[in-house]
Amino acid sequence: MTASQKLKLFTGAFVHSINLTSLEIIPKATIGVSEDGTIVFIDKSSKTPLEAAKSYGVGENDVSIVTTTSSSSFFFPGFFDTHIHASQYPNNGIFGKSTLLDWLETYTFPLESSFKDLNKAKSIYSKVIERTLSHGTTTASYYATIHPDATNILADLALSKGQRAFVGRVCMNQNSPDFYKDASEEQSRKADLQVIDHIKTIDPEHKKVSPIFTPRFAPTCTHESMKWMGDMMKKTGLPCQTHISENKAEIEWVKSLFPNNKSYADVYDAAGILTDKTILAHAIHLTDEEIDTIKARNSGISHCPISNSSITSGEAPIRKFLDKDLKVSLGTDCSGGFSPSILESARHALLVSRHFTMDSENDKDKLSIAEVLYLATLGGARVCNLEDSLGNFEVGKKWDAQLVDLESKDSGIDIFEWQTAGSSADEENIVKFENLVAKWLFNGDDRNTVSVWVDGNLVSSRI
Ligand code: GUN
Ligand code: FE
Repeated sequence: MTASQKLKLFTGAFVHSINLTSLEIIPKATIGVSEDGTIVFIDKSSKTPLEAAKSYGVGENDVSIVTTTSSSSFFFPGFFDTHIHASQYPNNGIFGKSTLLDWLETYTFPLESSFKDLNKAKSIYSKVIERTLSHGTTTASYYATIHPDATNILADLALSKGQRAFVGRVCMNQNSPDFYKDASEEQSRKADLQVIDHIKTIDPEHKKVSPIFTPRFAPTCTHESMKWMGDMMKKTGLPCQTHISENKAEIEWVKSLFPNNKSYADVYDAAGILTDKTILAHAIHLTDEEIDTIKARNSGISHCPISNSSITSGEAPIRKFLDKDLKVSLGTDCSGGFSPSILESARHALLVSRHFTMDSENDKDKLSIAEVLYLATLGGARVCNLEDSLGNFEVGKKWDAQLVDLESKDSGIDIFEWQTAGSSADEENIVKFENLVAKWLFNGDDRNTVSVWVDGNLVSSRI
């Protein structure tokens, strides 16, 4: 640390996951963040923020200080949304009684096809980035549409609005409506390269925005096109995202389309797109053999509980995945899911695990508050292969964070005087914080996310 470096000091209470089951609560600390957004120290002593900075060699003229805003307030890591269709955002909540395949035909393909209108793409993509940032999503893995120009706009907007993003042009070159389909395998490759090249020009090292190969799902992509993506993943190191085993009719369809593959997972494996950089959404009805293959390839799962309930897809066996140490995270899956909020997805993950328990009669299937908040943060970082730099508060990691306040000025939560927390680390105060976190998880919303930072930069604020 050089004396001329400017530091941002975040001071007050901090809550973050240190592993799947442990949510660490630090009632009083100061975290120093360098100009490039890296956490350079975490001071848990009783020093004032300025004293803490001084002991790291930084004078008071070189610091700015952000303090928690009430005694029901804490800093929390930014959320990861590992599965969201940016283009479907206008349809949030509009799904009627549909299930996956008729939902795609009725609601989804008509909306996505309209993104050939770039003005429309720009206004919707602006809104979805601003909205997800305001809900504390600092990293999103987006599906755009088949249109490369509109997809490039999504990448430009994520970069300019300061959100970390994986941006995927959706590949569809078979079993798709004539009005919404790549003209050929060659056209699919060309369009993918157009997006990859564009993102290279705006963020050459993909520090914030990265392309991601996005075969929509096995039915809409030929083996050859998925194989090309697998080869390209090897060549470029870029990640991949797709859907797997979401709905029973879909699984039967995949069986009939790919009769020579032994399973849905095998279709992807045979194409070389099941890798440690692959995000698989849903994964509800996998066989044990498929789970073992996914584990062997170290691919990550995006659990989308709101969508799975809304379009009646099923309940994903999350405890089974966690017991096998699969990488698991959360996705909103807008607009299969109706909410842009990962906090709400975490809440539904917890509730769906209760439904799973009611069916399995195994109490062990229940997910805890700590576990679903892990999936929302550190679990997401693992699935995106970013756990070395993101997901919780550690020296050397990036400051992607949100300031949560249960008593924010327009909060929908009522906090009684005896429920507010102090700065002591004693057992009684820690229990108060645990209860505040529980109240946030079950009753909180974006009104409680008062400020959001990515790489140390303020990207959304209500104050
Ligand atoms: N499977 C193929 N496309 C989609 C989609 O857009 N949303 C969901 N939830 N599943 C899909
Ligand atoms: Fe999806």
